[in-house]
Amino acid sequence: MKRTALDYTLKVKLPITVFVIVVTFALTYYIARPERDGMGYGPEQEIKFSHKLHAGDMNIDCKYCHTGVEKGRHATIPALSTCMNCHSFARKDRPDIVKLTNYYENNLPVPWKRVHRVPDYAYFNHSSHVLKGIDCKYCHGDVRKMEVVQQLHSFTMGACLNCHRNPKAEMKDLTAEVKNGPTTCYGCHR
Ligand code: HEC
Ligand code: HEC
Ligand code: HEC
Ligand code: HEC
Ligand code: HEC
Repeated sequence: MKRTALDYTLKVKLPITVFVIVVTFALTYYIARPERDGMGYGPEQEIKFSHKLHAGDMNIDCKYCHTGVEKGRHATIPALSTCMNCHSFARKDRPDIVKLTNYYENNLPVPWKRVHRVPDYAYFNHSSHVLKGIDCKYCHGDVRKMEVVQQLHSFTMGACLNCHRNPKAEMKDLTAEVKNGPTTCYGCHR
């Protein structure tokens, strides 16, 4: 009697349990993948700032707002004074512009949610890419069409290396002459 119960456990229950564990693990791994890589992340922001409207329809240069792209690591998010150059008169009555003006007049930062992020222990620098003629679109997609910014590309170590090993294949319509990016550990972990 006891033996058959043990047999049953070993031959039926155990394989089923193992199977369920393996399948659950595999599914979670693949489903969670984009989230782990940050891809597809595009949170709603406190103030509904539209790149499509400002950078697309109105064709304002990215560098008018992201003044750091040619200077160092961070592209930087513009100070509210940049917005107020226009919004101290443009669309003043709209709820989002009233909110914006409130932040500005009380000297408070807008709590913009960060979309892209590389950990501090890895060295990334906007200027060393942008100054070589690598356009924003190769890493951020066509932001001019985005109502809400979304991360489209992965920035894991593998993804950086992929482009560094073969930049021409990753950026097929690039006209600028670029060298390969660094692939030695010290290149990105300084
Ligand atoms: C009028 C100012 C303005 C212009 C012009 C502008 N941006 Fe932005 N950008 C912002 C603000 C404000 C944010 C933060 C809010 C948000 O994410 O929408 C932002 C966020 C971003 C982000 C996401 C940052 C993060 O958190 O990871 C990217 C990428 C970006 N902009 C790229 C661009 C590109 C590319 C262009 C040109 C095609 C551009 N921007 C033009 C103001 C601007
Ligand atoms: C080679 C890829 C690459 C290119 C080209 C690039 N970016 Fe980025 N961008 C990134 C990465 C990676 C991050 C995250 C950086 C971090 O966390 O330090 C980022 C972050 C940002 C942010 C968030 C704030 C910050 O600086 O960390 C903004 C805004 C931004 N990029 C705008 C731009 C604009 C505008 C251009 C074109 C002028 C551009 N980027 C070109 C890869 C790129
Ligand atoms: C060069 C001028 C200019 C700058 C700089 C500018 N905007 Fe605008 N913005 C406009 C104009 C013009 C409109 C109205 C466009 C329309 O409705 O056709 C607008 C519309 C908006 C709206 C939509 C308002 C509504 O509900 O109709 C928001 C929100 C906004 N801007 C936020 C911002 C923020 C945040 C910044 C700074 C990061 C900024 N703008 C910088 C000119 C500007
Ligand atoms: C779409 C292609 C592309 C992507 C994605 C990319 N890079 Fe690069 N990177 C380049 C190219 C091309 C160069 C060399 C440019 C040259 O010198 O001509 C470079 C150069 C560099 C340099 C050397 C410049 C310096 O300041 O010393 C570093 C560091 C670097 N990249 C880090 C990164 C990191 C970290 C990532 C990922 C978060 C990344 N890159 C993603 C194309 C890319
Ligand atoms: C082109 C840039 C680049 C080069 C070259 C590079 N790394 Fe990285 N590395 C990164 C970035 C970006 C991250 C953070 C994103 C991630 O975890 O994938 C990272 C993360 C790591 C991590 C943490 C991984 C984790 O899962 O937490 C280790 C360890 C590491 N790198 C070791 C190395 C070693 C060893 C080398 C040399 C063989 C190397 N890296 C070369 C860009 C680079």
